Amino acid sequence: MNKNLSSFIFLTTLLISLLSNGYAQTKTIDQKVDSVLKLMTLNEKVGQMNQYNGDWDATGPITETGDKQDQIRKGMLGSMLNVTGVEHTTELQKMAMQSRLKIPLLFGQDIIHGYRTVFPIPLGEAASWDMNAIEQSARIAATEASAAGIHWTFAPMVDIARDPRWGRVMEGAGEDPYLGSMIATARVKGFQGKGLGHTDALMACAKHYTAYGAAIGGRDYNSVDMSLNTLWNIYLPPFKAAEEAGVATFMNSFNTLNGIPATGNKYLQTDILKGQWKFKGFIVSDWNSVGEMIPHGFAKDAYDASVKAANAGNDMDMESRSYIQNLAKAVRDGKVPMARIDDAVRRILRKKFELGLFNNPFKFSNKEREQQQWNNPKNLAIEKTMAEKSIVLLKNKNQLLPLNKENLKGKTIALIGPFIKGVRDNLGFWSYTWPDDSARIISPYDGIKNKAGNDVNIVYAKGCNINDTSLAGFVEAIELAKKADIVIMDVGEAPDWSGEAKSRSNIHLPGVQEQLVKVIAETGKPLIVMISAGRPLIFNWIADNVPSILYAWWLGTEAGDAMADVLFGDYNPSGKLPMSFPRTEGQIPIYYNHLNTGRPAKNDSDLNYVSSYIDLPNSPKFPFGYGLSYTTFSYGDISLSAKSFKPNETLTASVTISNTGKYNGTETVQLYIRDMVASVVQPVKELKGFQQIFLKAGESKKVTFKLTANDLKFYNEKLNYVYEPGDFKIFIGTNSNDVKEADFTLQ
Ligand code: NOJ
Repeated sequence: MNKNLSSFIFLTTLLISLLSNGYAQTKTIDQKVDSVLKLMTLNEKVGQMNQYNGDWDATGPITETGDKQDQIRKGMLGSMLNVTGVEHTTELQKMAMQSRLKIPLLFGQDIIHGYRTVFPIPLGEAASWDMNAIEQSARIAATEASAAGIHWTFAPMVDIARDPRWGRVMEGAGEDPYLGSMIATARVKGFQGKGLGHTDALMACAKHYTAYGAAIGGRDYNSVDMSLNTLWNIYLPPFKAAEEAGVATFMNSFNTLNGIPATGNKYLQTDILKGQWKFKGFIVSDWNSVGEMIPHGFAKDAYDASVKAANAGNDMDMESRSYIQNLAKAVRDGKVPMARIDDAVRRILRKKFELGLFNNPFKFSNKEREQQQWNNPKNLAIEKTMAEKSIVLLKNKNQLLPLNKENLKGKTIALIGPFIKGVRDNLGFWSYTWPDDSARIISPYDGIKNKAGNDVNIVYAKGCNINDTSLAGFVEAIELAKKADIVIMDVGEAPDWSGEAKSRSNIHLPGVQEQLVKVIAETGKPLIVMISAGRPLIFNWIADNVPSILYAWWLGTEAGDAMADVLFGDYNPSGKLPMSFPRTEGQIPIYYNHLNTGRPAKNDSDLNYVSSYIDLPNSPKFPFGYGLSYTTFSYGDISLSAKSFKPNETLTASVTISNTGKYNGTETVQLYIRDMVASVVQPVKELKGFQQIFLKAGESKKVTFKLTANDLKFYNEKLNYVYEPGDFKIFIGTNSNDVKEADFTLQ
């Protein structure tokens, strides 16, 4: 080989290896970002911090607020949301390529639980407690959406939610910071895959930063008033976990926190997130949340709002137009330092470089790849499994479930309820309507009929509509039930009854559905009720009187097949509730990891000047972590490696679990602790670990957890993350209420 060629090959190999090394790559990107930044005018910089909704025909002309397309061509727009599909995104990106500096646009979208293949709502997926499955669900969403030209999802929502009236509980992982942190990590990893730059990766966005889940009264967009203790110990951990998992972006929130709107909150955005946590990505506002600081009473006008948001650390303005109309002037007036603008633009450009958009702005727009994602059988099969794992068996008196196909031959199953033939009803909020209407969606009726086969007679009556006040359909449903051997009902909440702006003050089953269940139960036929909903609902009569109940959330595209698999025992339910289910709205907020009072009630009937209601037990209807199986599990006593341990040592806790029933099954073994005496009062129980085990009927397994002093840390009064020596309790069990316990000491 000639000498020149071999040294060329050597140098090229060296360069490639340097580039594939993280350090070299970051440095290169930062240098490239700076070289673009140097070329930009102030207006172009502010343009990068500007995001518009794409709710107009791409070929259409002017919108109320000016010609967005013209602004793209002038480099006055950094990103768009709600623009999807290869055709549409390509068209807009071409316009961006006509701008002076040809900086590509970022396309963002709310891919909350799947794109074309709709997965269970996030709260449902959280009930699976299966991190691999949750990660895979996000992976598929990313694969499908990125193939449609989207770069960025506004997910995961990692808000802790202790109030089921708040409609947005459906988008998160429930009430627990530990489970919420694990799920935040899994979702970020799933969306971002092998890393930005791969054509199947979506940038993730941890939202809504922060404490949005504590909106007063569960009313959406409402204020939050919270101690720093609760903020740091309960609400911030999932955000920190998302940051540590490498989430590309954060979205701030609509709420005020202790009087300061999150969007204008320097403490949250600059001091904590970009300061203490060293977050390198960018922060986008929520929709018009910059402008909403005016009605909040925090900013005088849009100029003031843009100054306050930018100085607090908000990098991109979603849809309010405050930045694009005011920020350049604010810089010229000396109200916002140029360094702040440069920092925001650097953060945004860095992500565009990391995605590879400067090399190829159209790299995510490939028609063939997009087509491959439509009704993709592999993705649908994974969705079905995820849906099965999300279902929670709340009750199964006399082992009515699973149904046995052989025994049902020649018999009649009556399918009753407004969800039984529901198609879109099981997709839930934040799912998209496909214009071509060709998406496969399996209704419970179809799923059950296919599974039961031709030897079982399936009959159907709706009984009532979801939000009905009319009893007109009851007679037909009762007559049908009387003629049947077994009745399966599916009742619940309409898909637009939980989600953004879908808070409810009354979270009972809507309409006359519970009455319908009652009259059907009165026929005396064996009855199974499935509940399809976007939050924990209240359904006390059903809970107390119906023998078998499955909580099905909104399960997605394959809902019907997943339900059928569970009903007929092809999947043994393993879901566990990620939120406490209240008995009445009066108990809300209700959560298992509450503090003890100075006068704790001994039990639900203890009313003797203790902290209780005189008209209601303190306990929830179903506790956090609760969920049954067709089989039964028994727990042995906890065995500890030591009674006391030092901060540099590890404590192990073991329990033997036995499958004492007839079916193979999966159990989620949960570990909780309580710090008995601390400088800041600690919760009565806190989840600190869990393991999922599969046990064959009759099989036993020892499950071992390891604890170190790190697992016992909390944020103290000075907000230092510390452990404190002293006595602890450890609990291991099948849910937060049903546990074995032991004591240990940290020296
Ligand atoms: C408002 C919602 O609060 C947020 O979660 C969402 O991502 C944006 N709208 C964009 O749709």
